[in-house]
Amino acid sequence: MQENGKTSKISGFYKLSVEKRREIVKDFADLSDTDIESFSRPIDIQLADTMIENVLGTFELPLGIAVNFRINDKDVLVPMVVEESSVVAAASNAARIARIHGGFHASVTDPLMIGQIQLLDIPDITTAAEDIIKQKEKLLQIANEQDKILVNLGGGAKDIEVRILNSPLGKMIVMHLLVDVRDAMGANAVNTMVEALAPLVQEITKGRVRLKILSNLADRRIATATAVFDKETMGGENIVDSFLESYTLASIDPYRAATHNKGIMNGIDAVVTATGNDSRAVEAGAHAYAARQGQYTSLTRYWKDEKGNLVGEIELPLAIGIVGGAGSIHPKAVLCKKIMNITSANDLSNIVASVGLAQNFAAVFALSTVGIQKGHMSLHAKNIAMMAGAKDDEIEKVADQLVKEGKVKLDRAKEILSTLR
Ligand code: MEV
Repeated sequence: MQENGKTSKISGFYKLSVEKRREIVKDFADLSDTDIESFSRPIDIQLADTMIENVLGTFELPLGIAVNFRINDKDVLVPMVVEESSVVAAASNAARIARIHGGFHASVTDPLMIGQIQLLDIPDITTAAEDIIKQKEKLLQIANEQDKILVNLGGGAKDIEVRILNSPLGKMIVMHLLVDVRDAMGANAVNTMVEALAPLVQEITKGRVRLKILSNLADRRIATATAVFDKETMGGENIVDSFLESYTLASIDPYRAATHNKGIMNGIDAVVTATGNDSRAVEAGAHAYAARQGQYTSLTRYWKDEKGNLVGEIELPLAIGIVGGAGSIHPKAVLCKKIMNITSANDLSNIVASVGLAQNFAAVFALSTVGIQKGHMSLHAKNIAMMAGAKDDEIEKVADQLVKEGKVKLDRAKEILSTLR
């Protein structure tokens, strides 16, 4: 993420026309006319046909821009692909509050992914585990021969760990290969390496290899983001206290934690999808990480600073990349990365983690004050107005009336529409 000297703090962005928003984003990210126009078009059917099997067409989702984000002292506009109303607005609002105290501060560990090799029927499990470690250098060398490019970039297989597990089938060994995948998501590199290692590991352990596959619990590839949310802007210290009460439930109760984390993933998945990354991999990793201490809990933590402001922190595994995969061939994913001006997977992870924290703050803030429905209502009302058959400026009129009445229902929308007509 590079500083371009332009501000992402844009008030009233939501009130602008799509055309005007495009102009602003084009200017912010130095996009060409062709770049910006391509947001109007679905992806090429031939491209879709090479991405998955049995293609019938393409399926469009809205792509919005979250404004106000300042991350590691740089302003960034964040593309989000999501079907749910309020997500983009909520993230933008949280980013507006966070920037009062400097925005988000985010960091990532080395991009280490884990490949697993499962071994069964080992005659002497302790000796086998020791023998794997004795052969570590040779195993790493073979793994690295599979991906010279990655090694030349400073990545590659870095370490091996051995775990002995009890199972209904008896004791088994699971060997972990730790691979620095640099700017890639890394699944292909890791899977190629563990498959290449399997015969030798089988020979070393005198056992039988079963699975050889990447682990989505990418707990060696952790992103962290923190931010201070201004107490006055939140409505005073009593609101900070209400927020902390709400958060406490997520920290102790898996039923609440699941919903709390779902709110986090609203933001995370939207950016992950916009950049052509694998949201299922990120989801799997996030939820497994949330349960790492034996009880499923919140991926965020909150506390008060000495001035009574709210401090938030998120920590989660992020297996995402900026090279390879769908993100390199999907033209809109390429443009989304250009909008964020990112040059590494770390840049992207910093943004994704910050958006996750922003999204969570926004949801818990709303839940602790006005409730969630208020924010949802106006866009939801527009959807209902359209479902009732409203067209053009009728949509706004019907939606406004529905919100005013506090009854956003299809039958009422139809009545309002017929009166209007
Ligand atoms: C809705 O998509 C997400 C929320 O339920 C998250 C939360 O409850 O924290 C609002």
